Amino acid sequence: MANDQTVLLTLKLADLAATESLANRLAGLLKPGDVIALSGELGTGKTVIARGVIRALAATHTVDVDDIPSPTFTLVQQYDFPPFSLFHIDLYRIDSPGDVLELGVEDFFAEDVSLIEWPERLGAYLPEDRLHLTLQAGDHDRDRIVQIEKCGAWRDQDLELTPDG
Ligand SMILES: Nc1ncnc2c1ncn2[C@@H]1O[C@H](COP(=O)(O)OP(=O)(O)OP(=O)(O)O)[C@@H](O)[C@H]1O
Ligand SMILES: [Mg+2]
Repeated sequence: MANDQTVLLTLKLADLAATESLANRLAGLLKPGDVIALSGELGTGKTVIARGVIRALAATHTVDVDDIPSPTFTLVQQYDFPPFSLFHIDLYRIDSPGDVLELGVEDFFAEDVSLIEWPERLGAYLPEDRLHLTLQAGDHDRDRIVQIEKCGAWRDQDLELTPDG
């Protein structure tokens, strides 16, 4: 299956604040139907990005979200940020891609905003049209490398993710 993928950017995130700042910029781009895949090994910062996005949207919606739990066990956490709901999804514990469909993810993917940790677990159900971030450890404890790819019909605006861009 042809799946068009273009690397938009590779950024070095020098510390936690740099990762949180990327999450803030990402939050500002989101529209209903967006799928953001967050790949990377354990502890590389996928949840840090998801929490940063949720915190930023909560601030603009004046919604109180003191607690942003990791969905490691619940698999999905929902936040209402009209005009969409945001679904923070963590598929680490899913055994087979078919199990994911029981969560109703296809509806979220179409109508809402989905932030997906361990998106590889979806196999062929991973939406083709998505922004795909892949995190890697850097040279030090506190730094990370992130590669940002647009896949399928993801729109082109996202060079704005560059710091100060
Ligand atoms: N530059 C950085 N960016 C992101 N996280 C960082 C950075 N520097 C240090 N950290 C730390 O790395 C950890 C990242 O944890 P996080 O839970 O986000 O990882 P994860 O990719 O979601 O892992 P998992 O696969 O277990 O869900 C946090 O403890 C965070 O404080
Ligand atoms: Mg996580």
